[in-house]
Amino acid sequence: MAATCVVGLQWGDEAKGKIVDFLTEKNDIVVRYQGGANAGHTVVFDGKKYKLSLIPSGIFHSHITNVVAGGVVLNPAMFLKEIDGLKEQGISCENMILSDRLHVIMPWHFEEDRLMNETTTGESIGTTMRGIGPCYRDKVGRSWAIRLGDLYRETFAERIRAIVAKKNMILAGMDPEGGAQRLDAEQIISDYLGYAERLKAYVTDTTAFLLDALDAGKNILCEGAQGALLDIDHGTFPYVTSSNSSGVGVCSGAGIPAKAIQKLVGIVKAYNTRVGGGPFPTEQDNEIGQHIRDMGNEYGTVTRRPRRCGWFDAVAARYTARLSGATCLSVMLLDVLSELPEIQICTEYEIDGKRISYFPAHVDDLRKVIPHYITVPGWQQDITGCRKWSELPENARKYVKKLGEIIGVPVEICSVGPDRTQTIFVEE
Ligand code: GDP
Ligand code: IMO
Ligand code: MG
Repeated sequence: MAATCVVGLQWGDEAKGKIVDFLTEKNDIVVRYQGGANAGHTVVFDGKKYKLSLIPSGIFHSHITNVVAGGVVLNPAMFLKEIDGLKEQGISCENMILSDRLHVIMPWHFEEDRLMNETTTGESIGTTMRGIGPCYRDKVGRSWAIRLGDLYRETFAERIRAIVAKKNMILAGMDPEGGAQRLDAEQIISDYLGYAERLKAYVTDTTAFLLDALDAGKNILCEGAQGALLDIDHGTFPYVTSSNSSGVGVCSGAGIPAKAIQKLVGIVKAYNTRVGGGPFPTEQDNEIGQHIRDMGNEYGTVTRRPRRCGWFDAVAARYTARLSGATCLSVMLLDVLSELPEIQICTEYEIDGKRISYFPAHVDDLRKVIPHYITVPGWQQDITGCRKWSELPENARKYVKKLGEIIGVPVEICSVGPDRTQTIFVEE
C-alpha cells in the first residue's frame, strides 16, 4: 500500500495543482483531503488553463478516481458550478466520489466569515470569505454541524430549522446595526435538498473506499490545499486557515493510516508569496516584490488579490519540510526569477539581537524578525523553453540545488512555466 502526498511548504499557491496533475498518471486515485473553496489550483496543458477549487487535480485523467475526502468543507453550490464549468470544457466529472462524512458550508458560514474576519490584534486575517473557518468551527463544536450524509436523513429539515433559529440570534448579536443577513430556514432546506439530489450519485463512504484501495495495492496521490505555514496548529497563527494544511493533516483529512505514506513531495516556489494578513519576514514591499508579482502574475486565483511577494525563506521552509515529513522537494516558478542579476535566500533570523535558525511560534516574535540573507548570482536568460536539467543555465541549477541543501531535503522536480511540459526532473 502506498500514498504519495503533495503538500505546499509556504503560504499556499505553490503550484500544487500543476504537480498533482503531473504526478497523476502514475497513480490510481487522487484525494483532496482538507480545505475547501478557499483553494484555487491551476492546471495548464494543451494550450488550455483550468482553475480548480474543490475538484481534485486528477480530474483530467480518465483512469483516475478522484476523491473529495472527509476533511474537506464543501460548498455544494460551488462544487456543482465547478462540475458544470468543467463539463462545458469537455471534461467528464463522472470519475469522482464525495465523502458522506465531509462538512457542508451553509449560508450562515458566509455571514460569520464576514463578521469575524477581524482579529483582536488589529490586522485582519484577510480570509477568502468562503465560510471556511466558521464551517470548521461548527464541525469542532459538533451540535450545529451538517455533514453531507445528513442531507439524506429524515431529520435534516428539523435540524436546519433549529440551527437557523440559533444562528439568526447570533448573527443579529454580532452585527447590532442590523447589517447581518436574516436566514430563511425553508429556503435553505429547499436549496440544500436540491443540491443533495444532484450530488447523490457521488456520495459514498470514501474512508472505506481508500482503506480498501490501500489493501488492494492501489497508488493514492493526496493533494494538499493551502500551505504548511497556514496550518491551524503549526502555522503563523492566527493568520492561518482552519485546517491542518501541512503534512500532518493528510491522515486525518483523508482517513488513511500514517504508515501508508511512502513519499511526501514538498512544494515550494523559488521565492515566497502570501495573500491576506500576517507576518512575512522576507517580504519585499518594493520594486523587487513588484517585479516578482509582475513576472509571476502573482494575483490570487480565488480572490484576484495581489499576492505579497518576497525572497525565499529557507528558515520557514526547513521548518515546514521537517514538520510535514517531506521526502523530496519540487521547486516551482523558477522562471519568474530569470531577469534578476542577484537572488537572495534567507538562511537565518535575528530576534532582539540574537541569531536563530528555528521558526518562532508566536506571531509577535515573527513580526520582530530581521532576516539574514545569502546572495547568489542570477542567470539572466529565458529558461521557459528548457525541458532537461542539462539545458538549464548553471546558475539556475546551482540555485535549485542550494535550496535543497539548505532545507536538507533533495529537490526532485523543478518547474519553468505553468504548462505540464515545462517540468524538469533534477539530476545529479
Ligand atoms: P496552487 O494553489 O498551489 O495549485 O497554485 P496556484 O494555481 O494558485 O498558483 C500557481 C500559479 O503559477 C498558477 O497560475 C500556475 O499556472 C502558475 N505556475 C505553475 N508553475 C509555474 C512555473 O513554473 N512558472 C510560472 N511562471 N508559472 C507557474
Ligand atoms: P491554495 O490551495 C493562498 C489564506 C487566505 C487568508 C487565510 C485564511 O490555492 O494554495 P480562509 O479563507 O482559509 O479562512 O483564509 O488563508 N488562504 C490561502 N492563501 N492559497 C490558498 O489556497 C489559500 N487558502 C486560504 O488568503 O490569509
Ligand atoms: Mg492557489
